[in-house]
This record gives sequence, C-alpha cells and structure tokens, in this order.
Amino acid sequence: MSDNHDDDHDHELRVSKIRNGTVIDHVRGGQALNVLAILGIDGSQDEEVSVGINVPSDRLARKDIVKVEGRELSQEEVDVLSLIAPDATINIVRDYEVASKHRVERPEEVEGVLTCPNATCITTENEPVTSRFDVLEDGVRCSYCETIVRDEIADLIDSS
Ligand code: CTP
Ligand code: ZN
Repeated sequence: MSDNHDDDHDHELRVSKIRNGTVIDHVRGGQALNVLAILGIDGSQDEEVSVGINVPSDRLARKDIVKVEGRELSQEEVDVLSLIAPDATINIVRDYEVASKHRVERPEEVEGVLTCPNATCITTENEPVTSRFDVLEDGVRCSYCETIVRDEIADLIDSS
C-alpha cells in the first residue's frame, strides 16, 4: 500500500511544482495542447509553462496537466477550458501552496471565443455579429445558425 502511494507521488512529481501561478489539473488525456491554444500559449512569449501529457491518474485513466507560472486565468478562459476539459481542476498556487482549488463549471453559453464552422452563418460573414454558442451536454450549438459541434470544439477556438 505504501509502495503504491510512493508511486503516485512520483507521478505527481513528474512535472515539477510551481511557485506562483495556475495548475490546470485533471485535463482529459490528449487535451493539453488545446488548453495551451485556449490560453494563447505558443511559446513565443517568455511565459514559463510545464505540460504533462497522458500522465497516470487515479480519477481519470490518463490525464494531462498544465502549469503556468506567474499567471491566474480569467473567468472567460476557464469557461472555454470547461468545454474541452470538463473535469479539470483549477488550482491557484501562491508561494508554493495551493491557495484555491475549484472544478471548472460549464457556462450556459460562450460569446466571442469560438468561430462557427458554417461559412454562411451570419457570424462568419462580414457582419459585426459576435459569435455565440449554447453549451449542450455533449457539445456546443451556434445560437444563430444552430450548427452543432461535438468532438471538434477545440478547432473552433479563435486563434487570435
Ligand atoms: N502543484 C504544483 N505546484 C505547487 C503546488 C501544487 O504544481 N506549488 C500541483 C500538484 O502537483 C497537483 C495540483 O497542483 O497536480 C494540486 O495540488 P494538490 O492540491 O496539493 O494535489 P492533490 O491533493 O493531489 O489534488 P487533487 O485532490 O485536486 O487531485
Ligand atoms: Zn453559426
């Protein structure tokens, strides 16, 4: 039993602890790169970021984890994260301690962060209409043209 615990501990330490910032934990396996895209992290800034992909976890079979030093996330960022990482935990770390921890909550709708895949949708034509999607149990639906996207939500993220 204690051996097992030591193993768990080793896995946790695979990605080292941070001093101040945010740990996005329990991200669905394979979604870490999409988390980085949502946070606008592409390596071009000097932000210090650690990523674990397909790390063993007891809550999920495999999880991803993203640690961003020196940054706390906005509610809008957390809302979008909840769409691709519905089980994620957002841990705010201050001076090496977890200062707060909460599960992401799926919002009822998201505005201005996803691009509708329908080329004839009013939000993708040259109109000053901000995109809006209703959040469903298993995907998102454009509030204007009602296109539903289930598996490829990350592909809709505005990359600006
Ligand atoms: N963490 C970190 N740097 C710190 C403190 C914590 O990177 N200075 C990470 C831990 O590695 C863990 C997450 O933040 O991945 C949450 O830390 P903690 O609450 O201590 O771990 P658990 O109790 O295992 O979290 P949970 O119950 O949410 O699984
Ligand atoms: Zn649309």
